[in-house]
Amino acid sequence: MKKAIITSALPYANGEIHLGHVASTYLPADVTTRYLKLNDVEAYYFCASDDFGTPILIQSEKEGKTPADYVAHWNKRDYDDFTAFGIDFDFFYKTSSNENIQFVQQVFNKLNSAGHIYEKEIIQFYCSNDKKFLPDRYVKGICPYCNAVDQYSDLCESCGRVPEEISEPKCSICGQTPTKEKTTHFFFKLKNFSDLLSKWLEENKNLQKDVKKYVQNWIKSGLIDWDITRDISWGVPIPLDDAKGRVFYGWFDNHLAYISTAIKFLNDKGIDGKEFWNSADIYHFIGKDISYHHYLFLPAMRLGMDSEYKLPDFIPTRGHLTLQSKKISKSRNWYIGLKQFLQYYPADYLRYYLVSINPYSQDDLNFDWDEFTNRINSELIGNLGNFVNRALGFTKKAFNGIIPETENFDEKDLEAQAKIKSLSGELGILMDQNHLDRALKKIMEFSSFFNQYFQHKEPWKNESGTANCVFLSVNAARSMAIALFPFLPESSQKIWEQIGISGNVNQNKWNSISDISLNAGHILGNVSPIFVKVEPEDIAKYKKLLGPTI
Ligand code: 2FM
Ligand code: ZN
Repeated sequence: MKKAIITSALPYANGEIHLGHVASTYLPADVTTRYLKLNDVEAYYFCASDDFGTPILIQSEKEGKTPADYVAHWNKRDYDDFTAFGIDFDFFYKTSSNENIQFVQQVFNKLNSAGHIYEKEIIQFYCSNDKKFLPDRYVKGICPYCNAVDQYSDLCESCGRVPEEISEPKCSICGQTPTKEKTTHFFFKLKNFSDLLSKWLEENKNLQKDVKKYVQNWIKSGLIDWDITRDISWGVPIPLDDAKGRVFYGWFDNHLAYISTAIKFLNDKGIDGKEFWNSADIYHFIGKDISYHHYLFLPAMRLGMDSEYKLPDFIPTRGHLTLQSKKISKSRNWYIGLKQFLQYYPADYLRYYLVSINPYSQDDLNFDWDEFTNRINSELIGNLGNFVNRALGFTKKAFNGIIPETENFDEKDLEAQAKIKSLSGELGILMDQNHLDRALKKIMEFSSFFNQYFQHKEPWKNESGTANCVFLSVNAARSMAIALFPFLPESSQKIWEQIGISGNVNQNKWNSISDISLNAGHILGNVSPIFVKVEPEDIAKYKKLLGPTI
């Protein structure tokens, strides 16, 4: 049996999950995992809260909590919100777990003994006002590469690069210009991996071509070694006597939790986690803002351990979500929390909309309330909901809910039959290539074909051909229910139950989408509309909630 491990970028345990997070990362990963599981792959979806780092420490101090209590709160809240949205992790753990801490320390020791680490005295920004060294997000300034202003010292959000030194630095807590002080830090020799990384990028044909190009250019213009030490108390302790009181940079430890979380879960299940990892397809789903870390830093660290844990096969990278065509911003109240959205509409509405606007590319996508309304009302309800309700409702009314005996198929019936037979293969190709949006569109085209077929056959006239129309339409609804499971798990189960098939829809195999397995005599369950329309008046209210509150 084929194996797969799927991860999605670990959310910082520092605030609620919003639509931007789920669109690029968690939803595509969830849809893919559900698909792989149906398609006979032993697949597991792992994630964890990203617990360490300066911002989390400072925020916990502000709230008068220990950092451990603070991250425990967000770990639970995020998990609950994901679950309400139908994100079905096999295991959601945390980067601050004992397993991860130990694993990170082991990895450091291995990299250190292999000569990939060195210690160097550096000059670090220090704020004499806040009496703190100012790592990463605590210094803002101008990006030396693209001149974008107001960028963090650890990542320019405009060009996606990691600046060696930010220009015109300012303390982001108090705005004062920081001084420079001496301290000793550990560095990972990323520079030494340029050739190995280039080779890996070249050989891995599954990586997105556009992202690869970017990354190859970064390598060409020269990599810089990574400072992996932070002078703060909250993090994985550096396991060396002369490094007491210092911890690793969050980006040294966080992605290692992909591995440590998988190993813990699999070993607890009685599976050899390491062996599984190394014989599985590895997927890391991310947003494009963290490509640098996933295409360079993460693979280099695995290469530095002689690929004891294999490198990723897929790094599906997607663009950022804007909201009503503006950048999402919590401070400007221009965002929609996942929990909040789910108080308005069922998870499947959002899953449908976000998958359909989300191509397999780095292009940004936009959440628009009017487009959402249109797509739900005209596509999800007007096309899919309508077909299912029509086919099942008619069978109930005209045949007492029992599938009738078929007669000879005419040309239209044969065409309809052929559509069912080819559906699983056609969808499978798109799903295997990560084109989730196109696969969903294909299901909608299938539904639209069957709407037209039903219309054309006019079964309500009860002439010859009615039985065939009912038979094929109910079977088409069955195929749709299975095909929709990765995308709309709740609705697909509802369709399943209305068709009157026992058990869970996800107990089926992907190939069985193309079976015509409901025979004459099959009795439907209770039939009712699957979806409720989105009302424009409600949308007008929700739109008003965005933006400055004072
Ligand atoms: O950018 C972020 O939100 C990080 N917390 C992602 C971490 S992914 C990692 F673990 F590789
Ligand atoms: Zn300051």
